[in-house]
Amino acid sequence: MPTDASGSATTTSVRSMISAVGLSKHYGPTLAVDQLTFDVKPGHVTGFLGPNGSGKSTTMRLLLGLDRPSAGSSTFGGTPYHQLQHPLREVGALLDAAYVHPSRKARHHLWGLAASNGIAKKRVDEVLGLVGLSEVANHRVKTYSLGMKQRLGIAAALLGDPHTMILDEPGNGLDPEGIRWIRDFLAYLAKQGRTVFVSSHLLSEMALMADQLVVIGQGRLMEEGSVASIVDRYADKYVRVRSPQLEQLVALVIAKGATSTMTPDRAAQLRGVPVEAVGELAAANNIVLHELTNESGSLEEAFLNLTGVAQQYRTTAVPTAAGQATTPPPSSSSVPSVSPPSGSFPPPPPMQTGGRS
Ligand SMILES: Nc1ncnc2c1ncn2[C@@H]1O[C@H](COP(=O)(O)OP(=O)(O)O)[C@@H](O)[C@H]1O
Ligand SMILES: [Mg+2]
Repeated sequence: MPTDASGSATTTSVRSMISAVGLSKHYGPTLAVDQLTFDVKPGHVTGFLGPNGSGKSTTMRLLLGLDRPSAGSSTFGGTPYHQLQHPLREVGALLDAAYVHPSRKARHHLWGLAASNGIAKKRVDEVLGLVGLSEVANHRVKTYSLGMKQRLGIAAALLGDPHTMILDEPGNGLDPEGIRWIRDFLAYLAKQGRTVFVSSHLLSEMALMADQLVVIGQGRLMEEGSVASIVDRYADKYVRVRSPQLEQLVALVIAKGATSTMTPDRAAQLRGVPVEAVGELAAANNIVLHELTNESGSLEEAFLNLTGVAQQYRTTAVPTAAGQATTPPPSSSSVPSVSPPSGSFPPPPPMQTGGRS
């Protein structure tokens, strides 16, 4: 995965960096955003992950100057949104409430936006092509599927060829193929060096779309970093071992200070001991091994560990006597798995670059 410490730290990078410093927003007694400080760098898809009601949309509205912060500030390359000379040419946005009159034709809708922002008409056909809507550009928006409407919203956001894109839950309500399309398209924008900031409350979606994460809970910053580093830090890590002499091996490992849990398939999960030490202990004691692997939990587990105590609207959580919430099982229906595409969907955009590596 490329790091921006390399050659890409150009003036464009500085120009397109999103920075929030001490950003807060009160709605009466509700503290929707609580002293958020984070940076979003160019050349990456940065996921803005948090449970429903954690303040993602509010934060995005604050960034875009659609709401006034109670405290703190945010900038694009050092400039607050309302001071940008040509906001549409610098920052494109697709918010939840993106709305197009249903009886308008997509091309006419974009012509209107282009004209009112001093953007050449030919750019409309360019962005329609980019999002794969050229062939349906003269259809009325009411005939569009949700995925096509999301593409139209992205086309509108791209009209000014902005270096920064902000998208609030673009995957909401989309089928797996629609989410896949958005993922590929955002990766394509990031590869061009743009800054892409995209929110979701679903980790399964975020794991597919983003390579960097800003995680919030109850308006507060919980974590910031690469998806891999967050999984590494928060996911449950253990050594899985199977052996016909399992009890003997487990006793030896526990004597070294590790802990052990048995699984239904008669394997032991060992925590607090490196996999090498288990192998060496087995060899030194002539213990036969049938399996010895390093295991790590999913992003979902990392996310639940991170936001579990901060989740406001988790109905499946049961508070324990210790005051800690127990998390729902990984098979929770709120986190759908993403399966291969099915059915028909308009063609993908022309990709100049390959998918993410
Ligand atoms: N316009 C508003 N007036 C009052 N409360 C609001 C308003 N917008 C958001 N909130 C509250 O702020 C909190 C954060 O909401 P939101 O930013 O929409 O979260 P998310 O996008 O992460 O689901 C919630 O408690 C929500 O009810
Ligand atoms: Mg929201």
